[in-house]
Amino acid sequence: MLTLNINGKEIQIDAEEDTPLLWVLRDNLDLTGTKFGCGIAACGACTVHVDGTAMRSCSVPISMVAESKITTIEGLTGTVGNAVQRAWIEEQVPQCGYCQPGMIMAVSALLKETPSPTDEDIDDAITNICRCGTYPRIRKAIHRAVKLETEA
Ligand code: FES
Ligand code: FES
Repeated sequence: MLTLNINGKEIQIDAEEDTPLLWVLRDNLDLTGTKFGCGIAACGACTVHVDGTAMRSCSVPISMVAESKITTIEGLTGTVGNAVQRAWIEEQVPQCGYCQPGMIMAVSALLKETPSPTDEDIDDAITNICRCGTYPRIRKAIHRAVKLETEA
C-alpha cells in the first residue's frame, strides 16, 4: 500500500511499487484525462505535474512520487492553468484531442518557469508529439495564454 497525493487528495493505492503512475491514474483512479501514447517517455501524452514539474507518468514508478504532490489535467487550476485552458479554447487548438491534455500540462509547467517564453523556449521545452500537427496553434495559444495571464 502506498499513499499518493493526487489533485490535493491523499489516496491509498494498492499496487506494486514499480507500477507506472499512468497505470494507477487511469486504471485504479479512473483519471482518464491523462493519456497513454507510447509508454516509453517519448510522446508526452501522459504528462502530469509532480511538484509542479512536467513529468511523463508512463515512465514514473509510483514509489518515486509517494512524497510528492501530483497534479493531473483534472486538477489543473490556478492563474496559469486557467489561462492556458482558456487560450486553448480561444485558439481552437485540438484536432483529435488525444495529445492535448499532455500538451496543456507541459505548457502550464513551462509558463510557471518561464512566464513569457520565446518561440525558441517553446520549441526547447515542449517536445510532446501531436500526430495531427497542431503545433502552430499550440504556439499561438501559448502566446495568448501569456497575454490572458498578464490581464488577469
Ligand atoms: S505515453 Fe508517456 S510519453 Fe508517451
Ligand atoms: S490533436 Fe490529435 S494528436 Fe494532437
